[in-house]
Amino acid sequence: MPPSRSLACLLLPPLLLLLESVRDADAGPLAVEIVRPSFTATSYDYVDTGGAFLVSRNGSFRAAVFNPGKQQASFYLAVLHAPSGTPVWSANRDAPTSSTGKVQLSVGGITVSDANGTVLWSTPPLRSPVAALRLQDTGDLQLLDAGNATLWRSFDNATDTLLPGQQLLAGAYLSSAKGATDFSQGDYRFGVITADVLLTWQGSTYWRLSNDARGFKDTNAAVASMSVNASGLFAVAADGAMVFRVGLAPAEFRMLKLGSDGRLRIISYALVNSSAPVGGDFIAPAGDCDLPLQCPSLGYCSPAGNGSTCTCPPLFAASVTVAGSCTPGDGSTLASPAACQNNDSSSGGASVSYIALKPLTSYFATKFDAPTNTGVNKTACRALCTASCACLGFFHDSVSLSCRLIGGKQLGSLYKGASDTNLGYIKTFNSATKAGSNQIGSSSANHTVPIVLPSVAAFLLLAVLGWYIWWRNKMSKNGRKKKGKSSTMKVYLGRQKSPSRDTGYNADADDDGGGDDDDIVIPGMPARFSYQEITTMTSNFATKVGSGGFGTVYKGELPGGEGLIAVKKLEAAGVQAKREFCTEITIIGNIRHVNLVRLRGFCAEGSRRLLVYEYMNRGSLDRSLFGRTGPVLEWGERMEVAIGAARGLAYLHTGCEQKIVHCDVKPENILLANGGQVKISDFGLAKLMSREQSALFTTMRGTRGYLAPEWISNAAISDRADVYSFGMVLLELIHGRKNRGEQEAAAPANNVAVAAGSGEHSDLPSGWSSAMTSTASGTSGGGDEYFPMLALELHEQRRYLDLVDARLEGRVDEAEAARTVRVALCCLHEDPALRPSMATVVRILEGSVPPPEPRVEALGFLRLYGRSYPLPVPGSLTAMAGGGSHLDESLKDTSAPR
Ligand SMILES: *[C@@H]1O[C@H](CO)[C@@H](O)[C@H](O)[C@H]1NC(C)=O
Ligand SMILES: *[C@@H]1O[C@H](CO)[C@@H](O)[C@H](O)[C@H]1NC(C)=O
Ligand SMILES: *[C@@H]1O[C@H](CO)[C@@H](O)[C@H](O)[C@H]1NC(C)=O
Ligand SMILES: *[C@@H]1O[C@H](CO)[C@@H](O)[C@H](O)[C@H]1NC(C)=O
Ligand SMILES: *[C@@H]1O[C@H](CO)[C@@H](O)[C@H](O)[C@H]1NC(C)=O
Ligand SMILES: *[C@@H]1O[C@H](CO)[C@@H](O)[C@H](O)[C@H]1NC(C)=O
Ligand SMILES: *[C@@H]1O[C@H](CO)[C@@H](O)[C@H](O)[C@H]1NC(C)=O
Ligand SMILES: *[C@@H]1O[C@H](CO)[C@@H](O)[C@H](O)[C@H]1NC(C)=O
Ligand SMILES: *[C@@H]1O[C@H](CO)[C@@H](O)[C@H](O)[C@H]1NC(C)=O
Repeated sequence: MPPSRSLACLLLPPLLLLLESVRDADAGPLAVEIVRPSFTATSYDYVDTGGAFLVSRNGSFRAAVFNPGKQQASFYLAVLHAPSGTPVWSANRDAPTSSTGKVQLSVGGITVSDANGTVLWSTPPLRSPVAALRLQDTGDLQLLDAGNATLWRSFDNATDTLLPGQQLLAGAYLSSAKGATDFSQGDYRFGVITADVLLTWQGSTYWRLSNDARGFKDTNAAVASMSVNASGLFAVAADGAMVFRVGLAPAEFRMLKLGSDGRLRIISYALVNSSAPVGGDFIAPAGDCDLPLQCPSLGYCSPAGNGSTCTCPPLFAASVTVAGSCTPGDGSTLASPAACQNNDSSSGGASVSYIALKPLTSYFATKFDAPTNTGVNKTACRALCTASCACLGFFHDSVSLSCRLIGGKQLGSLYKGASDTNLGYIKTFNSATKAGSNQIGSSSANHTVPIVLPSVAAFLLLAVLGWYIWWRNKMSKNGRKKKGKSSTMKVYLGRQKSPSRDTGYNADADDDGGGDDDDIVIPGMPARFSYQEITTMTSNFATKVGSGGFGTVYKGELPGGEGLIAVKKLEAAGVQAKREFCTEITIIGNIRHVNLVRLRGFCAEGSRRLLVYEYMNRGSLDRSLFGRTGPVLEWGERMEVAIGAARGLAYLHTGCEQKIVHCDVKPENILLANGGQVKISDFGLAKLMSREQSALFTTMRGTRGYLAPEWISNAAISDRADVYSFGMVLLELIHGRKNRGEQEAAAPANNVAVAAGSGEHSDLPSGWSSAMTSTASGTSGGGDEYFPMLALELHEQRRYLDLVDARLEGRVDEAEAARTVRVALCCLHEDPALRPSMATVVRILEGSVPPPEPRVEALGFLRLYGRSYPLPVPGSLTAMAGGGSHLDESLKDTSAPR
């Protein structure tokens, strides 16, 4: 606190008394419900009531000339929730008045003016003269005409709070206050658009209701308005149809507030006159690291306990001025629109350079915002950024060729990303003094960077560290403590690594298409092999490692020790013509994610179609999970498999340019390898088949245990069909058994996916699949027990541990088990719209979002399946083949950018 202000605080009371005695002719008692023109209020007139001059009829709300935090500098005309003292609306938020400022009511409306009489805020021109100002028991401040018609109401211009009875229309938004005592508009917004409800910061989205597990979407209609009431949050269409809803525990009164920290909270009170909330607020986004400024200016946010920590990414050093923020370690400065427009470096564009972020580092805004451009290479993306003063950096995906420019007044937080092909580059300006010796500009040679940078960076780090220690000492000596943003936030100095090729990132963004692709794959395209080459690689198809609906899988090795491969020979009948096949291959082959099996090449010769995949040495999940011979898959491993597989599917659904619906999620298509690798296989294969074939395969391939009800009802197939299948896989992971009994034994040849087989498996029998089926039927236990139904029943009794595989002998985390069962059941909801997205499933499994409550009414069909099991699907084949067009459309569906 600056001394001048503390002085002001000391001096005020006597001054106040003086003024009061002078002006007490004006002072009035607290009015109830209505005041009439002409009326004037200053904070002094109502000092006894804390500035309040009007109270609603039953006392729930007050209107006041309000001085938040008693800081005596900024006064606002505000409506307060009386029991809690929470401001719920303010008029002159961007133009606070002084302690002597006036609020006046005249027949023309309300004005707020400063001590000199300058009008700071007023109601808009009204159609007829004002007869009264009324404060409703709902918190709505209204101007009425002589016939009691409403001329203006505060509910139409929400600030940062929404009350029951108040609507936020599509296109409107709440904007946060800058701080607890500064009501002026901050940078966070909570808005309603026709397709969603979002939180944004400087135009970048950081939360969407449609991606939140707690939100349910009922229809696809356009949202017209949003409101909160005793039962939750609701977004409805123009005709009143429910679009989104978030059910909350009943509470008589609740308010939705966008905090100055960027968090949205729905605060519930048992009664309207309760002074303290009941707790258990709805908070969005849920995790600290989902906030844009948790670690401002490129701090890397990692969850830690209840809170989070901020560290600096490689090549950046902790800022000494702002906790959690980072600055370039090489002494350059982060780009800012102001510095760019000022042309402050003489060399113009040459002084701009970029610092590459490590792979798997993501920026908050890339999660939800659509790419700025697609189909451009990194050079072009970079040029776009360089040309724009508003661009502070860019993310480029080398596989999907999407380009996202980062803008805003400043940079926000980094967090752990999911894609290792979407790389970030941060724009910096070299300071003029260093330009000669250390220019990492676009023209400088790459190899000078690793040599110059570490020494400069080390020197700077030492200097910064020294200064920081000095500064800390000085601060503590003065006995002042800088208040941190969050008590759990810590700042570490980023460890500097030398930016060599081996670490997978480099300091210069100038090496388009070069270097880091060390395999035979041409960037952006899987390799094309001749049939002869593949015959050689597989030693004339000597080692069969599995067979499945799409074809037989053989083990092989790339020439020159490039690694082991699994070659899938697609069944000749039904494959697409060569050109379509190659088109699809470029799409599938371009998809790269740590949790997706990588397509390394293909062969299309005559009618032959072969796919070459990377080899996964532990085979498919069903072997480890259902097999009775090897060691039992421990709980922790199961959770890792669940999260890995969920991430892979989430990437297929939302991470690629073109949405891929897998259509055949099951343990056989989840492959494991040493080092805890978990990858989804067979994605996109339905695309390689002709329409009828793919429809037939999907229904035929004996994976009925995983098929979502919409496959059978012939309704449209969306990514939520995969969510359903994944829910079944989750239940099997918990239970350690197939979700249904003998059915699988009757349908052999389903168990094997690409690349099945153990590492040094000279012992792997070529008749492996039949060996598998016998184990599967051997483990089916009761046979007619339908596990999903049991899971639902035990969930209703909260007996989660009873669901867990007995072979684990209790080596289970009960909270995790409960969470997993709940999310699994939510995935099984009969109505696809009620299932969470895969992205949400990932976050629930990771524990960053609490699991939603499964809806028992949407799971009743499980009991039906359980009773009538085995599930009969006569006629569904013909239905499917006939309904091929909708399948085809949904598979070809291009994803809407998220
Ligand atoms: C009132 O006007 C005077 C002169 O124009 C100015 O110096 C002073 O800052 C104003 N006071 C307020 C509260 O705006
Ligand atoms: C005040 O009125 C509102 C609206 O009619 C009502 O919901 C609330 O319960 C009342 N509060 C009290 C304390 O009676
Ligand atoms: C306006 O409302 C007040 C209070 O609700 C009532 O007393 C008054 O009669 C109303 N006037 C008219 C013209 O309806
Ligand atoms: C206040 O609300 C009205 C009606 O919803 C709208 O037209 C107007 O732009 C709003 N004004 C401000 C300052 O938000
Ligand atoms: C809350 O609003 C929704 C949507 O308008 C409505 O369906 C529901 O009945 C309301 N609940 C209560 C308790 O008023
Ligand atoms: C709230 O209002 C109810 C009835 O309206 C009353 O019984 C209760 O005492 C009030 N509570 C408080 C804290 O004012
Ligand atoms: C974490 O949360 C728990 C319960 O919510 C609380 O008891 C504990 O003190 C918190 N720890 C920290 C570091 O905030
Ligand atoms: C900066 O340079 C550009 C062109 O190089 C010019 O158009 C612009 O006016 C300059 N801005 C300032 C503030 O000098
Ligand atoms: C990038 O694309 C541009 C045109 O869009 C082209 O001129 C340039 O050669 C490409 N660069 C590389 C490395 O492919």
